[in-house]
Amino acid sequence: MNWFSNLKGRVKTEVLLSRYTTFKIGGKADFLIEPFDLEDLKKILKKSKENKLKVFIMGQGSNLLVRDEGINGVVVRLNSDYFKKIKILDDCIWASSGLNLSKILQFCIKNGLSGLEFLAGIPGTLGGALAMNAGTKEASIGERVKEVKVMDYNGNVKRLNCDDIKFGYRDSSLKRFIILEALLKLERKSKKDILNKIKHFQKYRRLTQELLYPSAGCIFKNPPGFSAGELIDACGLKGKSIGGAEVSLKHANFIINRNHASAKDVLELIDYIQDKVKKKFNIDLELEIEVW
Ligand code: FAD
Ligand code: EPU
Repeated sequence: MNWFSNLKGRVKTEVLLSRYTTFKIGGKADFLIEPFDLEDLKKILKKSKENKLKVFIMGQGSNLLVRDEGINGVVVRLNSDYFKKIKILDDCIWASSGLNLSKILQFCIKNGLSGLEFLAGIPGTLGGALAMNAGTKEASIGERVKEVKVMDYNGNVKRLNCDDIKFGYRDSSLKRFIILEALLKLERKSKKDILNKIKHFQKYRRLTQELLYPSAGCIFKNPPGFSAGELIDACGLKGKSIGGAEVSLKHANFIINRNHASAKDVLELIDYIQDKVKKKFNIDLELEIEVW
């Protein structure tokens, strides 16, 4: 079907999404499109609506479990140069949503801008981080947001003030939109101080988290007052596997793709963990990752 033939960006059909997720899991999408610019993005939304195709915005796929059956619809990745711009404005940065967090951190180090160091080691794009309000125990990205430029699913571009946006624990009201750019408030600090902070966070991650095998980071949210990892660990589930999916030996809230796992393996392991934790602690573990 030639619905998207008039775009300047890249259009692929029947694409295996396992190539685009950090879990290395996921069936085929009908379409995977990387719009060249805003005009392309608008055309994608219009054509998708006309043809009743659902649109999914994907960043780096680092918080996603895509089902083995794949996606009926259009997966959009904001991966062209148009969506990877960054500039300084006083003590703030204006950054486009397709930029990887690591690129933004490099820019901050180079320009002596502090405030985002806690993001070190979190894979993903700025868009994904804002949608998920990514963060750590120290901070979340929402705290740094002054303004966000978004497109709604009818193709209208709007600017939202921080007061218009709700940020929760790994959640934000921005998910309703396509995030395009954000203005983040930072502080001037020495490169050395910024680098030291980044190194500190990276070290903590290396020591505590599973970074050797494909994963989507923590699978469950921490229930109020508890750590999901500690609860799963206390159930003796480290190393428990179903098919190719396994509870990490290093951090029990990480499920790893140990050996060609399917999404079905991961989902069964999730059910198994939820059941054990409920029986032992009477606590319901809620998913942190998104299942598509
Ligand atoms: P994706 O996974 O591609 O998408 C996630 C959600 O964001 C989807 O709903 C998607 O539709 C939406 N989205 C993406 N881009 C846009 C856009 N432009 N506009 C609108 N919606 C969009 N997360 C943390 O918070 N803290 C951590 O410490 C952390 N550590 C991790 C460690 C590892 C090893 C891994 C693999 C993951 C970790 N994560 C962590 C999870 C993940 O990296 C973050 O949630 C990240 O912000 C997701 O970004 P992404 O670009 O990969 O988004
Ligand atoms: N713990 C165990 N066993 C385990 C894992 C952890 O007993 O297998 C214990 C630790 O010893 C510690 C406590 O649980 O006392 C908390 O562990 P950790 O410091 O690793 O933090 P966490 O609560 O598991 C959260 C975020 C991470 C984030 C870190 C660092 C959630 C669900 N997880 O993990 O975010 O990187 O803090 O700040 O909020 C993610 O969202 O994907 C993610 C990795």
